[in-house]
Amino acid sequence: MKTPSNSLVVMTELVLPNDTNYLGNLLGGRLMHWVDIAAALSAMRHSGKVCVTASVDQITFDEPIKLGHVVHITSILTRAFKTSMEVYVQVEREDPLNGTRTRTSDAFLTFVAIDQYGKPLPASPLSPETDEEKHRYEEAAMRREIRLRAREAMKARRG
Ligand SMILES: CC(C)(COP(=O)(O)OP(=O)(O)OC[C@H]1O[C@@H](n2cnc3c(N)ncnc32)[C@H](O)[C@@H]1OP(=O)(O)O)[C@@H](O)C(=O)NCCC(=O)NCCS
Repeated sequence: MKTPSNSLVVMTELVLPNDTNYLGNLLGGRLMHWVDIAAALSAMRHSGKVCVTASVDQITFDEPIKLGHVVHITSILTRAFKTSMEVYVQVEREDPLNGTRTRTSDAFLTFVAIDQYGKPLPASPLSPETDEEKHRYEEAAMRREIRLRAREAMKARRG
């Protein structure tokens, strides 16, 4: 059975002028794009199939990331359900001139592997190994409940 480390993705990006706003800070949308790509790769490494993003939980930007900083995005599968997979992503900023690293964002995303008709495919189970992986695995069920309730509430609001 596959373990979370089989799905580990580490992505490194240098913040260039085209990635920033007027203040020289990394654009939130650019960071979300990188987060989505890293997380999708984790889901694809686990499933060996084409995956789509079903949802992105709340993502906060705790500290600005500036032009010239290095962004480290680490993503790993936390749990596989019937057809969906939850991925945890951590973002760190590095100042390459002095080597300091600061955690700036965390996020949970949900992916689904699909066939050529866009139909969800069964997800292979995941076997957590470390205490941290086991903790994230246990908590994933609770996060899933919350996001599925939110999905139902949104559907009801749309009518
Ligand atoms: C994600 C998608 C494949 C789900 O298909 P669906 O026909 O709604 O099928 P289901 O309702 O059975 O959902 C499939 C799984 O996704 C999960 N899921 C669906 N919407 C979800 C949401 N908003 N948040 C979390 N999980 C969600 C379901 O719980 C289910 O998981 P499970 O089998 O492990 O219980 C479909 O909605 C889709 O293709 N969406 C567009 C994806 C896309 O284009 N993403 C790029 C961003 S625009």
